[in-house]
Amino acid sequence: MRENIDIIERHQKSLPGNAPLNCKMCPRLVKFRNSNIEKFPEYFNGPVPAFGTKDAELLIVGLAPGLKGANRTGRPFTGDYAGDLLYPTLLKFGFAKGEYGSRIDDGLSMHKAMITNAVRCVPPQNKTIGEEETNCRPFLIEQIEKTPSIKIILALGGVAHNAVLSTYGEKKSAFKFAHNQTHALSNGLKLIDSYHCSRYNTNTGRLTTEMFEDVFKNIQEFLG
Ligand code: URA
Repeated sequence: MRENIDIIERHQKSLPGNAPLNCKMCPRLVKFRNSNIEKFPEYFNGPVPAFGTKDAELLIVGLAPGLKGANRTGRPFTGDYAGDLLYPTLLKFGFAKGEYGSRIDDGLSMHKAMITNAVRCVPPQNKTIGEEETNCRPFLIEQIEKTPSIKIILALGGVAHNAVLSTYGEKKSAFKFAHNQTHALSNGLKLIDSYHCSRYNTNTGRLTTEMFEDVFKNIQEFLG
């Protein structure tokens, strides 16, 4: 029995640009999903819907759900190691309210912010391929187009950065990924980059809590 499927279905319907829960666009991801349904029948095992508010001014774009985190709980970064840094930071900077409890029914809510992923389904070995990033892009496009309140997009890592650039038809060579750099996109929106808050990046010291918080300080300053 999949836990909290009612909450996941509500999230799926409550924001635009979510993949249908039975999306079958990517053969490799569907095959992986089916093997996970056998191994972990209690997990969500589907395209994880975005989490946040319709009036989001900040959109956070991650890579893809982690197998035993967001793919299990059905909420981006929830139960993933990366969520242990992301959610406390969102709470600290006022983009979330309540308490983060690593589960979809922890009562946490977002404040003028939304979290989504460049690829909505968990990929094998945590690595997406170009075709999957392309297949999933229409969902990101719809999410952004139907959320006109967005003023700044935070890309967590290079895949998210490129997904945002492709969404707007921007040249990748004009906007190189760089940690804590803000890019002014042609349509007036701002894109800010951060190294992904993954276990690998935090364990190796590539991303520290201080560096991550500096990104949020810049976002806060920009939003005023
Ligand atoms: N969990 C997510 O939902 N996205 C990521 O990018 C990493 C973990």
